[in-house]
Amino acid sequence: MAESTISLKARETALRAKGFLTEAEGMMLFEMARWSSQHAPCLEVGSYCGKSTIFLAEGCRLTGRNPLFCIDHHRGSEEQQPGELFYDADLFDDQLQCIDTLPHFRRNINQAGLEEWVIPVIAKSKQIGKYWAKQDLSLVFIDGGHSEEDAFGDYHTWTPHIISGGYLCIHDIFPDPADGGSAPYLVLLHAQESSEWEHVRQVDTLGILRKRNHGQQTNQNR
Ligand SMILES: C[S@@+](CC[C@H](N)C(=O)[O-])C[C@H]1O[C@@H](n2cnc3c(N)ncnc32)[C@H](O)[C@@H]1O
Repeated sequence: MAESTISLKARETALRAKGFLTEAEGMMLFEMARWSSQHAPCLEVGSYCGKSTIFLAEGCRLTGRNPLFCIDHHRGSEEQQPGELFYDADLFDDQLQCIDTLPHFRRNINQAGLEEWVIPVIAKSKQIGKYWAKQDLSLVFIDGGHSEEDAFGDYHTWTPHIISGGYLCIHDIFPDPADGGSAPYLVLLHAQESSEWEHVRQVDTLGILRKRNHGQQTNQNR
């Protein structure tokens, strides 16, 4: 019988993994990927230790058609460096003297049983974006660097590859910057202002937008 929901193995590994996603956000990503990945691959920017990756890739696995590309240089964002607010000493490689989340990411994806559905890309988002040619994407999840340069860079790099009817999910939407920074929220506002996107919903701090079909009427001209 076809599986209808997230496996216990994936759920437990995702919940155990270090990361910054609520379970409700994760389950929303799972459902979105399950639906979207029937049309084209999904892509995330900012995998860290694989928490969001597991929810998304498990959606891909259940649908059984397309994988998830996972972009991260695995050296951590600014706020995850030594002395910063989200520094985690477990992720510091003493020999290399830098953050390295890749071993944690790989272990979690293996334990979740999702290696076949995850294509890790160990690079800066803009760097790989320059070489991304024809591959359409059904869903892009942006949770990489949270500076305006990084967040808008991710938006401009990856959204042109999303198919009509596909989804853009942005994490850490805080209308009040004091709660956690403003760049993802500014990207969401920017997208909402363009007629290309319609806002679908928000789950905790996860904003979800849908790319309008070409030629589809917008709310403004309806
Ligand atoms: C907030 S964490 C992602 C959390 C993850 N999505 C989760 O579910 O827990 C941000 C990640 O983005 C990565 N990152 C930051 N800037 C990046 C860039 N320009 N290109 C690729 N990855 C980047 C960092 O290395 C870090 O692992």
